[in-house]
Amino acid sequence: MNVELVYIKLIHIIYLLASVTFILGLKMLGNPRTARNGNLLAAAGMTAAIIGTIVLHHGEVSGTVYGLIFGAIGVGTVVGWLTAKRVQMTKMPELVSLFNGMGGACAALIGLVEFEPNLGDSTSIGVILAGLIIGSVSFSGSMIAWAKLNGTMRKAIRLPKYNVLNTIILIGIIAYAIYVITSGTPNTMHLYLLFVLALVYGILFVIPIGGADMPVVISLLNSFTGLAAAFGGFLYNNQVMLTGGILVGSAGTLLTFVMCKAMNRPLQNVIFGAFGETEATGSGSGPQGNIKEVSASDLAVQMNYSSKVIIVPGYGLAVAQAQHVVNELEQLLESKGVEVAYAIHPVAGRMPGHMNVLLAESNVEYDKLKEMEDVNPEFNQTDVVLVVGANDVVNPAAKTDPSSPIYGMPILEVESAKTVVVNKRSMNAGYAGIQNELFFRDKTSMLFGDAKKVLTELVSELKNLD
Ligand code: TAP
Repeated sequence: MNVELVYIKLIHIIYLLASVTFILGLKMLGNPRTARNGNLLAAAGMTAAIIGTIVLHHGEVSGTVYGLIFGAIGVGTVVGWLTAKRVQMTKMPELVSLFNGMGGACAALIGLVEFEPNLGDSTSIGVILAGLIIGSVSFSGSMIAWAKLNGTMRKAIRLPKYNVLNTIILIGIIAYAIYVITSGTPNTMHLYLLFVLALVYGILFVIPIGGADMPVVISLLNSFTGLAAAFGGFLYNNQVMLTGGILVGSAGTLLTFVMCKAMNRPLQNVIFGAFGETEATGSGSGPQGNIKEVSASDLAVQMNYSSKVIIVPGYGLAVAQAQHVVNELEQLLESKGVEVAYAIHPVAGRMPGHMNVLLAESNVEYDKLKEMEDVNPEFNQTDVVLVVGANDVVNPAAKTDPSSPIYGMPILEVESAKTVVVNKRSMNAGYAGIQNELFFRDKTSMLFGDAKKVLTELVSELKNLD
């Protein structure tokens, strides 16, 4: 067997093993206990695939090209590592969006680099154009999503008849690409025009979408990037790129639908709808009335004599970084014989799994985190529900008010508990920009203040009680 043949066989084995690590890694990400190792396993597979490709690549590669490859890998690794290390948990969706945009840009660059005028073979042209268009949409769309999440672009921008305009541009791009593929005379002018049109479409696709829907959009764009990478794999006949692309594409699509289901909103409503534009600064529209306040010391007494307490974490817990003190509260209550659990709404916070990640940071036991369907029937056997920085996910309007923007979203049914205490800093609205009638109900008391400060007070009051 000649050396080249050995290299080819070896590289196929590496690609197969790397693909297996991706699949296992993805499976392991499904559980918080195994997620970290799953991530490391898939990263190891990807590293092996990259090194294998560079080392075992057949054909002449000059020293300059190797220099460029390793230089780019070096810069990318340092920038990626430092950014991921330094990012705050609350900024994670932004980072995912930025990284996803880079993936889209890579797929688009592959299209630009691999295109040759008069390529002849229409399948190759089709694959190149598909990767270029989808990658470009994903890149520019992700950059807009990133700008929206970091506050650079605050408002949803809706051009007149934007839905019609976007649909026309999309159909135009597809028709033009088909023309280029079938014309038999593709040239670089067509390529660059399609590239620009796809970039413009990506921007126009995301600018009308409200800030609250950005995580759903990012997940959708993530699936686009996966698809674009899969086209790259098809083009190069590279199995690991194909598998990786398909996995990212399908995982992104599934996550998009899971999030839409959790908010009870069809995807077209996210893309064309008008939700999530309202700034969460005012008290929002909706019910007004009298509220009751409770002090940390009174709540401590109430909790001290409870048999069961459920804590509902929300976005405010992340803002206040109160995850450690909430864990301390839980342990203190348990040492006093009180049963404690956490009720996790699937879209609490600002990204999928936000509350799970946050509470895992403070070593809360995973078994104590209960998903919405499991915990809802438990509220009626609960003495105190403590809502910490959550708002929309406990808003009964989702069930009772068809005119509410969150109508139909499944919520945590905290009202079935004996007492509900809501901690937040003011009467300001949550992300959906609407007031919450729960705050005005008879069994609800408000505990105003920053979550970390108030819970620290609560813990010290509890410590003083027998
Ligand atoms: P929100 O409805 O956004 O409410 C968070 C509340 O926390 C606010 O009302 C705020 O009130 C309070 N807060 C902020 N900082 C605080 C602090 N330092 N201490 C105490 N409280 C503080 O949060 P939620 O209930 O978690 O709901 C999530 C929302 O985001 C839903 O509408 C969901 O659809 C949307 N969303 C989620 C996702 C994912 S995947 N998680 C994706 C897209 C959209 P004050 O200002 O009065 O303190």
